[in-house]
Amino acid sequence: MASLASAGVTRIAGATVGGYTTGTSIGAPRVAYTAASTFPSANMIVPAATGFSDSRFTDPSNPGVTGPRQAKVLSTSSPVTSNPAYAQAAPVTYASPVTRTIGSAPVFTQSATPAVVRQAAPVVEYAAAPTADRSGSRNQPLPEDRVRRAPAVYKGDVPVYAGLTAGGAEYVYTGGDSTMLVVDDPSIFDGVPQAPPDAILSLASLFKEDKFPQKVNLGIGAYRDENGKPWPLPSVMQAQMIVAEDPAEDKEYVPIDGKPDHKKPVQQLIFSDAEIASGNLATAQALSGTGSLSIIGQFLSSIMGCKTIHLPDPTWGNHNAIFKRAGLESKKYTYYKPETRGFDFEGMLASLQQIPAGDAVLLHSVAQNPTGVDPTPDQWNEIVHTITQLGVIPVLDNAYQGYASGSLEQDGFAQNLFEESGLEYFVAQSFAKNFGLYGERIGYIHVRCASPDISKAVLSQLKILIRQAYSSPPRHGAAIVYQVLSNPDLKAQWLDELLFMAQRITVMRDALRDQLESLGTPGTWNHITDQIGMFSYTGLNTAQVERMVKEFHVYMTKDGRISVAGLNPSNVNYVAESIDRVVRGE
Ligand SMILES: Cc1ncc(COP(=O)(O)O)c(C=O)c1O
Repeated sequence: MASLASAGVTRIAGATVGGYTTGTSIGAPRVAYTAASTFPSANMIVPAATGFSDSRFTDPSNPGVTGPRQAKVLSTSSPVTSNPAYAQAAPVTYASPVTRTIGSAPVFTQSATPAVVRQAAPVVEYAAAPTADRSGSRNQPLPEDRVRRAPAVYKGDVPVYAGLTAGGAEYVYTGGDSTMLVVDDPSIFDGVPQAPPDAILSLASLFKEDKFPQKVNLGIGAYRDENGKPWPLPSVMQAQMIVAEDPAEDKEYVPIDGKPDHKKPVQQLIFSDAEIASGNLATAQALSGTGSLSIIGQFLSSIMGCKTIHLPDPTWGNHNAIFKRAGLESKKYTYYKPETRGFDFEGMLASLQQIPAGDAVLLHSVAQNPTGVDPTPDQWNEIVHTITQLGVIPVLDNAYQGYASGSLEQDGFAQNLFEESGLEYFVAQSFAKNFGLYGERIGYIHVRCASPDISKAVLSQLKILIRQAYSSPPRHGAAIVYQVLSNPDLKAQWLDELLFMAQRITVMRDALRDQLESLGTPGTWNHITDQIGMFSYTGLNTAQVERMVKEFHVYMTKDGRISVAGLNPSNVNYVAESIDRVVRGE
C-alpha cells in the first residue's frame, strides 16, 4: 500500500479536542481520502445502485469511470506503522446494501447495514481540494479556519457516501469541492440511528434561514401579533412581576401534584362550583398539555389496563406518539370530510359505535387541531349521548379554550355536557395558548370520578406516575396562572386579551377568504371562515403546499394546515395571491 505521504494526503484528522480536530494521534484515524490523482487504483468500489455519478469522484483505472478528480481510500486493512494515529481500520461487518439519510443528506452505503454505518463524527472537511502534499504537517493542530465541525458536513443537500472498502475499512465522502478526512472513533452510541427531525420544528428553522423578505410563517401553532411577533399577554407579564417580587416565592419544590390552593381557580375554568365542591375531581398540575396527556396515557395503560385509545382522523401530530410511548395502541375514528372541508358527523358517530367498551376515546374539547372543524352544539349533544352508551373512557384534550370564540364559557360547551352526563372522564388542560405560557409548560390533569374516595385513589396513582416521570411540576408559571386567576382585575384583563386574540384571528380568516374570493381563486373558500380556533385546514394538497413553501416562502405543514394567527394585514394579500397561484397551477 502507498504510504499516506506519497499518496498525497493533505491532512489527517485525529480527534476532536476542544471543539475542533487536531490531527494529533489522539484517536485512531481509519480512513483518509484525497482528490489527488496519484493513487493506485485499489479499493474504491462504487456500487452502481448508489447512483454515484459525480464525475469529480472518478478513477481512471476503473473502467467506465473517468473525470478530472479522484478520490481514494488510503487506509485499508493494513496497519500504517509510521504513525500510531493511522491505525488499522477495525473490521466492520456489513450486510446487504442499504440507503439512509444523515440529516437531509442521502447516505449511500456500500454493502452496509444502518446499524454499523457510523455517523462519521468527528468529521473534518477541507475548503479546497489539495494541490500539494501537506502530510508533513499532519501532526500539527489544524488552523481553525481549515476545520469544519462535524454537523456542518450534513447541512444542505450535499450527498454523503459511506461504505466499506475492499480491504474492510469504512469510508465516507461528501460531494462538493472538498477532500475530506474522516476519523471514526468507536463510540458506545455507534448504533444510535439519526432520528428524523420534528416536522413543525424543522419548518421553523427553514423559515428562520429563509432570506426572502416577504416570507410568512403559518406553520407554528403560536399566537402572533399584527407585526408577526410573539405577544406575551400584558396580564400575564403583570402577574409575572407580582410573582417575581413575592418574598414567599422561595424556589422550593412544590408538591408532586402542584400547590393545593392553585387547583380551584383552574378547575373553575372547566367545572361547575358544585362539581368542584363534590370532591369527585382528582386534579394534578402537569407539564402543559403534552405532559398531561402523557401521564393520562400512562394511567390508562398501567393503572387501568386499557390497551387502545381512539383518536380523531386527523389529529394533532403528537398524539399518536405520546400514547404509544405510554403503552397504548392508537386507532383512528372518522372526523373530517375532505369533500366539504368540514365535520363528518355521521362518519364520526358510525365510527364511535365500533369502539369496544373499555377503550379510551380522545376528543378535542374545542378548536380541533389541525382542522379547525368542531361539532355544532346539537352534534356535541349527540356525541356525548353516544359515548355515554358505549362504556368507553373519554379523554378531553383542552388546549385551546377561549381561542375559538374568545369566551371561556362558550368554548367550554362540550366540557359542560360531559359534566352533565355524569360520566367519569379525563381532561388535559393546557395553558400554553390561552395564557401564552408556551415555554413555561403549565397545565393540569383533571379526572372526574364517581366519588370522593375514588378520586383520592386516582390522585394517589397520578402522583406516583408524576413522581417517577419528573418528580414535581414547575412552580413559576403555575404561580403566574394563579395570580391571574385569583386577582379579579388581572383576570378581567386576561379575558379581554383572550377575546382580542380570538377576534384578531377571526378578522384574518375573513380577510383571507375575502381576498381569495375577490381573486376568483378556483374552489370554495367558506371553510376558511367556517373553521374556528388557531388553525385552518386549507385543503391545499401536498404538491401545492410544497410550492407554497418553496416558491412563495409561505411556510405551512404538509397537510395544508395554516396557523391563522400567523396572518396579519401586511401579509394576508400575499398569502392569498400565493394560494391563488398554486391552486391555478400557475
Ligand atoms: C390538540 C393539542 N393538544 C395538546 C397540545 C399540547 O400543547 P402544550 O404541551 O404546549 O400545552 C397541543 C399543542 O399544539 C395541541 O394542539
